[in-house]
Amino acid sequence: MIINRPPKWKIAILANIKDENQTKPEGVPPDAFADYDSIETIYALQSALETDGHQTVFLHADRELPYNLREVKPDICFNLAEGLGGDAREAQVPALLEMLAIPYTGSRVLANGISLDKTLTKRIWRDRRLPVAPFQEFQTGEESLRPELRFPLFIKPAREGTGMGVDTKALVRSEAELRERARYLIQTYKQPALVENFLPGREFTVGILGRADAKRFARRPELYEKDGFHRFPILELDSGEKTASWIYTNEAKSKDVGPVGEEGFFCPADVSPELEKKLKHLAFRAHVIINALDVSRTDIRLDEDGNPRLIEINTLPGITPNYSDLCLQSAAENLPYEDLILEILYLGASRWGMVEPREIPPEPVKIPYRLGR
Ligand SMILES: Nc1ncnc2c1ncn2[C@@H]1O[C@H](COP(=O)(O)OP(=O)(O)OP(=O)(O)O)[C@@H](O)[C@H]1O
Ligand SMILES: [Mg+2]
Repeated sequence: MIINRPPKWKIAILANIKDENQTKPEGVPPDAFADYDSIETIYALQSALETDGHQTVFLHADRELPYNLREVKPDICFNLAEGLGGDAREAQVPALLEMLAIPYTGSRVLANGISLDKTLTKRIWRDRRLPVAPFQEFQTGEESLRPELRFPLFIKPAREGTGMGVDTKALVRSEAELRERARYLIQTYKQPALVENFLPGREFTVGILGRADAKRFARRPELYEKDGFHRFPILELDSGEKTASWIYTNEAKSKDVGPVGEEGFFCPADVSPELEKKLKHLAFRAHVIINALDVSRTDIRLDEDGNPRLIEINTLPGITPNYSDLCLQSAAENLPYEDLILEILYLGASRWGMVEPREIPPEPVKIPYRLGR
């Protein structure tokens, strides 16, 4: 098989960076910017991309970005940008790049916008018969509760990530608690609140890499199954004491989760083959249905009867080595960080005609064996 080595590119990494020393502007939530990357993540990403001979440059995904892009003129952007406010911030930088006709990695505008909005995502999944917990969006906090929603309930901002707005008060047991939290979230996060039935069971997250035509463009085509997709080993969040009210809060997400097997997570999760198949299938369908591209991570939790329910999909999953769930899943199957990053790069680049397709020999035709004549 011919391996098509692409030419070397100038890659701009686009991200928002955490600055622990900077004071937060007034009027932003206490956990604002929790989804920003650390500069160490950028360095790791640069080294990974450079192992394949590319040149990299880091650009802050701030309001200067359009001007800096014009100056730097990258061949392609590795997109980690979270966006700045509005109702679809993760779609802002992809939209800008499309307007400027600059290639970039990962999901495009619509999928990034939809996946940030957990209510909209769940409506789409529900329409396609994917299992989600009963839910309702609160715009004011005064809406009457739909009958299918039963306490205890779970309430979170409809358009945040990294556990923002999720702490122990997200679990509400009474009408009064629900109303108080809804008002707080709507006011503090300046967006609707999503109310769902509380899912008391185990929690998993499943990473997906690939595309129907991935084998033709990937650096490591053997990673992908026949349908062009790779399913990472399932990661289970360790609920510690296994209390029925355990949740993965913003605070928990800010800490090192520890090595595999110890407190924090299990990967691969200890699940029955049937549950594994179900979880991987759901993550795959969740990805395809919202038109996510190349990489995503879907969170799933079991309900009181042990049935999986989709919580949300991350089309811009964290990629901090040895820390982000996707990297832990990748490490659990001995896929080096560099390979994970370069797969995302080449899958992205191939959509912009930057990678020569590889010839795939047709599947051997099975000639039925006939007994006698
Ligand atoms: N309906 C629910 N029932 C029980 N727990 C829930 C429910 N929805 C969310 N959670 C808990 O809250 C956590 C955060 O929720 P969710 O995944 O929607 O937020 P996020 O901030 O977007 O996460 P990420 O860091 O993956 O972007 C989940 O990991 C889970 O522990
Ligand atoms: Mg999540």
